[in-house]
Amino acid sequence: MKEKIKLLKFNFQEEMKAVTKKEEVERIRVNYLGKKGFVTEIFNEMKKLNTDNKKEIGRELNVFKNNIERTVDEYNKMFEEKDLEEALKNTEKYDFSIISPVTEGTLHPITIVQRQVEEIFKTMGFIIEDGLEIQTEFDNFEAVNTPKNHPARDMQDTYYLENGQLLRTQTSAAQNYIMRKYGAPKKGDTLKVLLPGRCFRNENIDACHENTFFQMEGMMIGEDISIANLIYFMKLLLSEVFKKEVKVRLRPGYFPFVEPGFELDINCLICGGKGCPTCKHSGWLELLPCGMIHPNVLRMGGIDPEHYTGFAFGLGLTRLAMMKYEIKDIRIFNSGNLRILRQFGDR
Ligand code: FA5
Repeated sequence: MKEKIKLLKFNFQEEMKAVTKKEEVERIRVNYLGKKGFVTEIFNEMKKLNTDNKKEIGRELNVFKNNIERTVDEYNKMFEEKDLEEALKNTEKYDFSIISPVTEGTLHPITIVQRQVEEIFKTMGFIIEDGLEIQTEFDNFEAVNTPKNHPARDMQDTYYLENGQLLRTQTSAAQNYIMRKYGAPKKGDTLKVLLPGRCFRNENIDACHENTFFQMEGMMIGEDISIANLIYFMKLLLSEVFKKEVKVRLRPGYFPFVEPGFELDINCLICGGKGCPTCKHSGWLELLPCGMIHPNVLRMGGIDPEHYTGFAFGLGLTRLAMMKYEIKDIRIFNSGNLRILRQFGDR
């Protein structure tokens, strides 16, 4: 048996030396280590040997087997490297020193409107904040006076993560964080924050509802903030964005986190108020709900509602872009249709 192994070792080395292709390596491997291979056969024959011989032959055979595996691996690697080199030789060559003309992109219409609104509010002393898209249920609902089982939660169904967090349904989810971050303003001062961001809802999608859309939260808190301040800022915002007279209507609206609360609707600029699919044939589009911050929300944010009042609004930024650019269908924004989207690209 020892002689047989010696002969096999010699043959294996000679065969490997003669190899020219990867396929031959595999054939040799199978010849030696396959189910009916030379080495496997000797392993089977070994069963007939006595214990001492079995140990000695077994050891030698295992060393040989390991040697075959290692040699086969080395050859395979060598052939892979050769293949790669060959492929590189045959690939198309690029001259990186040639500068090709760069086509400049344009900003997304929502980004353009967002920046415009930010500029307007910045000049009035508002801080721009950046909330989180993934929120706790507490921040999205409880902290804005919408406890578990509150019926208002039904209107904002969303996507929950396995850890219990959720994709925020509204930028109002950051109200508590902002109040805790900045605290009550100093005497005679006000806290003014603007917070744009992407929101998510499990929606029935149509011309003015998306499952992913942008809002912009605004808050102003101070010792003497009233509805008059709220109306002033809302009017200013709309006249600056549209630069023309737009018809709006203010009506009572219910949101658990404001009291009183309002819905501020814009007369549909697609149909001029006559009614169309964009405004669901009502002539009006809900755009800018707002109201005076509920005392519970201030309290939960660590601000004393006995001394401070404030207003908040939740501008529908995507809808504002629709109205500004007279885009009939909200689905265009997330469509990636550059032919349409690049038309609005004033930078
Ligand atoms: C809210 O989300 C409140 N957080 C707004 C608010 C903030 C009220 C502060 C008072 C004080 P509402 O669900 O109505 O409210 O959404 C606000 C605006 O976001 C809507 O008027 C609309 O313009 C826009 N919006 C809501 N859902 C969608 C949607 N699925 N697709 C596109 N825009 C939407």
